Amino acid sequence: MRELILNALRQEQYISGERLGKRLHISRTAVWKHINELRKDGYKISSSPQSGYSLIESTDRLLPEEIMTGLEARIMGRRILHYTEVTSTQDIAAEFARNGALEGTAVIAETQTKGRGRKGRGWVSPTEGGIYISIILRPNLKPFQIIQIPLIAGIAVCKAIQKATAVRPKIKWPNDILVEGKKVAGILTEISSEVDAVNYVVLGIGVNVNTDKSIMVKIQGGMANSLSGVCGKTISRVKLVQFFLNEFESAYTIFLVDGFHSLRRDWKKLNTTIGSEIIIRDGGEEIEGTAFDINEDGFLLLRTKNGEVKRIVSGDVLPGNRI
Ligand code: BTN
Repeated sequence: MRELILNALRQEQYISGERLGKRLHISRTAVWKHINELRKDGYKISSSPQSGYSLIESTDRLLPEEIMTGLEARIMGRRILHYTEVTSTQDIAAEFARNGALEGTAVIAETQTKGRGRKGRGWVSPTEGGIYISIILRPNLKPFQIIQIPLIAGIAVCKAIQKATAVRPKIKWPNDILVEGKKVAGILTEISSEVDAVNYVVLGIGVNVNTDKSIMVKIQGGMANSLSGVCGKTISRVKLVQFFLNEFESAYTIFLVDGFHSLRRDWKKLNTTIGSEIIIRDGGEEIEGTAFDINEDGFLLLRTKNGEVKRIVSGDVLPGNRI
């Protein structure tokens, strides 16, 4: 019913409660109750005895009906579950996946109390301003190929940000999304698999979109940024999610058919790691060298000082100031 009311409000500039009720076969009181529910969800709807109801502004809450209106993707976001608060969207999505939810099911929350990042780190997830989304994937791949999924998700996040703003983000290997050298988005991939087959993957994306400056300065020792902070204006989170789902669906489809090699060029264009002298820190280990390429499997190729070539599977990239 909410969707029908919203559709009617989108089609007509003004519509009376009586006409809306007649059209949807409900009473005027029922219309009024639904309108109030929509207002609670952040829709700005005016009402006047002369002209009726009018939709002034849609909500920026990441409600399924908002995201699905105008969504081109057919698989990614085919089902969207929206929560006001969760521990982590990764937990909720994994539970849905265990219970058989289809590929493309997306779990979105307005805030997370235990948002998590790579390598056991947390992901600060304040209300209003961020995007916290986890998508269930069921690729017919071997477990070792899964490291390529966050790489292609990184391409999709960058393209979505480019479409929603004037900003040109860059990828720091493997999948930190940076703007002006500071992190605006992160990607976390969690997998359930047998030795040689994948059960499901939960792909989690966190984006600092309109997050308040006072919060941003406290994240990652001041090394995080929000898109609104860079652009100086509020960005539509709904549009950004739509762009991401569209871009990710295109990239994922190519990836499943042709493999990572057909997206490798896109990734290389967007990355900021290749060509730099870096230190890779993984657990207690550090390797220094010059990143000179990414291979067809998604491994970063590093040439050390003594000319040895290392294939890096995981780790954090730090500036190579000690070389
Ligand atoms: C990182 O850069 O360390 C990855 C951050 C991933 C954060 C997202 S927010 C949605 C999903 N739920 C989580 O708890 N984490 C991911």
